Amino acid sequence: MTDARTLGDRSLARCPVSHDSGSWTVWGNEEARRVAEDPATFSSRVSRHLSVPNGMDGDEHRRFRAVIDRHLSDDAIRPLYPEFERIALDVDATMGDSFDANVFGSLVAVRCQSSWLGWDESYEDELLAWISENQAATRSGVYARTAAVAEQFESIVRRIVADTPGAATAALMADTVEEDGAQRPLTPAEIVSILRNWTAGDLGSITYSIGIVAHFLATHHAIAGDLRRSDEEGGTRALDMALDEILRIDDPFLTNRRRTTADVTLAGQDIPADSLVHIHWTAANRDPRAFGDPDAYDPVGNAPRNLVYGAGPHVCPGRTLSTLELRAALVALLRGGDLTLNGVAAREEAPAGGYSSVPVRRVPRRP
Ligand code: HEM
Repeated sequence: MTDARTLGDRSLARCPVSHDSGSWTVWGNEEARRVAEDPATFSSRVSRHLSVPNGMDGDEHRRFRAVIDRHLSDDAIRPLYPEFERIALDVDATMGDSFDANVFGSLVAVRCQSSWLGWDESYEDELLAWISENQAATRSGVYARTAAVAEQFESIVRRIVADTPGAATAALMADTVEEDGAQRPLTPAEIVSILRNWTAGDLGSITYSIGIVAHFLATHHAIAGDLRRSDEEGGTRALDMALDEILRIDDPFLTNRRRTTADVTLAGQDIPADSLVHIHWTAANRDPRAFGDPDAYDPVGNAPRNLVYGAGPHVCPGRTLSTLELRAALVALLRGGDLTLNGVAAREEAPAGGYSSVPVRRVPRRP
């Protein structure tokens, strides 16, 4: 079975845009950016299900995106960092000297998210079980199974909203959206959709990202040493840029979809109106035309073409939150000792990205 990153590299080597089984895939960096930055031609309205704000276009997207941005702004999120760091250090302290970095990652992801949203810790086991089932369902490629998992997540969120929503969730429930020049309350369906889009993707992406970061530290000891020095000197910007670059090299957030609103030509390919188009972020982040050697680590030089968090009007509003959760995990791993691989790290199977397990061992550092 070919993993999604290798598949992306191979497909991109043949052509930056390809057509297969009735839909198009955009693998190239410049082409992916062009699609993401042209919402008039490449619509995000790809499903009949309500998806706030991911599945919206134009003015409707702008109005709902303003709600999302209020809750994920730097001012709202940055004060959470000390608590995230405490969570990651606490989880790390329970891991021992040999552990699976994805297990560490899923615990950090669930606890940071629950702390941010004010969700009761009694939901932790259910959320952890959901992460595993979601990964298995994605791996299976069986639509009925992924749909059942999505439904299961929605029912967890509905219970939390009805039960003990916590401060940040309650603030969302009390928020309003602009409509016809006035403000109106969000509907229950809109609130659940927003929470689902914040949380369901976040839990999986953060778990896989932490596995990828741990794998990188365990296989790049000189860079791990530099990052440890940055942490000791309080160099948070260097750590955040390193995270962006590590995820560029191995981006677990594979694809998003668009639908063309008109005939369009991309990389010499004529794509008819009403075509389904997949943006393959993982391949686009490894395009040799944009980065030269895709595995060469260059946080500063590669930043301008990095598409880990997307581009255009749908660019990830959770970037600050995600970066702070990942920085907390990175700092805990760096402070815990020198990591090495403890066996073979297994790649996830397409259509998921990253690793399904990252066994690591550490040599604790002497004071
Ligand atoms: C490593 C972690 C993450 C990665 C790699 C990631 C990546 C992305 C990308 C590439 C997009 C663009 C989608 C598109 O163009 O269709 C996106 C959108 C989005 N992300 Fe993230 N994301 C991450 C974490 C988060 C977190 C923590 C949240 C919130 C809690 C979040 C919420 C969203 C939302 C709501 C959108 C849709 C925005 C819109 O349609 O305007 N993401 N993300």
